[in-house]
Amino acid sequence: MYRVLVVDDDQVLQQSIKQALEFHDFIVTTASNGKDAVSAVYREKYDLVVMDVNMPGMSGIEALVEIKKHDLATIVLILTAYSNVQDAVKAVKEGAYNYLEKPISSENLVALIKRALKARSMVETMAFSAPTLSLGDKGTGDKFVGESNAMLKVFNLIEKLAKVNTPVLIRGESGTGKELVARAIHYNGPRKDEKFVTINCAAIPETLIESELFGHEKGAFTGAHERKIGKFQFANAGTLFLDEIGDISPAMQVKLLRVLQEKNFTPVGSNREISGDVRVIAASNKNFEEMIKDGRFREDLFYRLNVLPVYLPPLRERVSDIPHLIGHYINYFNNTHGLEIKGVSDEAKAKLLAHGWPGNIRELRNVLEHAFIVESTDTIRACSLPENIFKDDDGGNASSGGSSDCRGGVGSAGVMINDDDEDADDHKGIYDNIIDLQGIRDSVLDDGRDSAASQASEYTFTFSHKNDKLDFQVAKDMFEKEFIITALKSNNGRINQTALKANIPKKTLLRKIEKYGINPKEYKV
Ligand SMILES: Nc1ncnc2c1ncn2[C@@H]1O[C@H](COP(=O)(O)OP(=O)(O)OP(=O)(O)O)[C@@H](O)[C@H]1O
Ligand SMILES: [Mg+2]
Repeated sequence: MYRVLVVDDDQVLQQSIKQALEFHDFIVTTASNGKDAVSAVYREKYDLVVMDVNMPGMSGIEALVEIKKHDLATIVLILTAYSNVQDAVKAVKEGAYNYLEKPISSENLVALIKRALKARSMVETMAFSAPTLSLGDKGTGDKFVGESNAMLKVFNLIEKLAKVNTPVLIRGESGTGKELVARAIHYNGPRKDEKFVTINCAAIPETLIESELFGHEKGAFTGAHERKIGKFQFANAGTLFLDEIGDISPAMQVKLLRVLQEKNFTPVGSNREISGDVRVIAASNKNFEEMIKDGRFREDLFYRLNVLPVYLPPLRERVSDIPHLIGHYINYFNNTHGLEIKGVSDEAKAKLLAHGWPGNIRELRNVLEHAFIVESTDTIRACSLPENIFKDDDGGNASSGGSSDCRGGVGSAGVMINDDDEDADDHKGIYDNIIDLQGIRDSVLDDGRDSAASQASEYTFTFSHKNDKLDFQVAKDMFEKEFIITALKSNNGRINQTALKANIPKKTLLRKIEKYGINPKEYKV
């Protein structure tokens, strides 16, 4: 339900707008002048404000400026008593979404409000569309799995942490599920209907992190062309996940400590404080104890964050969870890839249990997705695992190449589907791909499945040109586009499968898809 504030000194109009909006299930509060409107917005969060311009004391435009200062995300619609275009233009310039001329029809008003709310939610989901998670029922595949004592303790802790408001520090190696825990805490607590906003402190340059977190005023620094709200304000009422918190500078550590202590902050270049209600969950794999000793991390900030610590043990220390995780990902990939893999062979299972999993659950997931794409039978065999695991000497009863469940079968391509794939060098890409295709075809794709690569090895690319118009770049782009479309067609429009079978690093494939405006969905059969 959306909350609307209706501001008009004309009581009759104010009440009739209120009734019309309540009829459409909005929660409506009223105010009779600009000043009251501003205090109302400071007291409570409104999705939208409908406001008259001419009111005694503070005008609607002045109030609009104040409201936007407090929360840029609040939508303001302006009502003008007569065709006063100047006021309306000024209002829109100051950030009003639109204006309506009196007399107002309730139909027009409701339609405009719905449009504005829809536009805002589209922008928000575009910018912050992250997969959501609940412990179980949202069907995103991001389900928690684990039956080891260590994980049962973590689940127990999540339930407790979800109910309280204190900061949380989640520690653990890469890929152990720190972000998953953060989401689970958010989506299982009272803030679940509010935003879960993530910021990766290590990925943002030192010079920008303050403005990312706290926002900035227009002109606060070179390049600050517009006023911008920060993640603390954007996440208001919800949760802010500060990933890689161990990477923030000492100066930022001081500022963060202040927000945690005082619950307010100051945007860059501003002299007004903004207060907010944000739950902070932080994560890192850093050795804080050592960093504190060396003076690289503030002890007071550490203790603030570490009120309720969560530690995620590496997968190699909870091997009993591996079979459950395998089962989980088999179900998940059967659904996403439209396959019916029944399980893993004993030999493959032994190899999976014996591997050291330095990349933890993320690595296990990637390995299984790799196997799904490569496997041609209904059981994942050892030879369908990536080479580093297939050839792990300490795993299973078969050492390098001597696999018992794969005799006569296909060999492993040793290609990992990995989100962290190195981007291919543009100039190198096209030739290497052609050469590699032959190798991959021989080793992996002779399993009878249709493949882009097997077609591409017989691929002839022709282009017409006039002698004086020979342009390598144009020809290369044409080739790439056509190649990618052909590969997508052969792989039912699936990105991961296309990347693997056509031997294009996934990141490169995504970049090219965007560059050439290709829509993979068009190639789904
Ligand atoms: N217990 C679990 N059950 C099922 N899937 C899990 C579990 N833990 C982690 N995963 C999955 O493993 C992958 C990595 O998890 P996540 O991104 O939360 O790790 P992380 O600790 O934040 O890693 P990094 O430090 O590299 O950012 C995700 O796909 C996540 O869904
Ligand atoms: Mg993470």
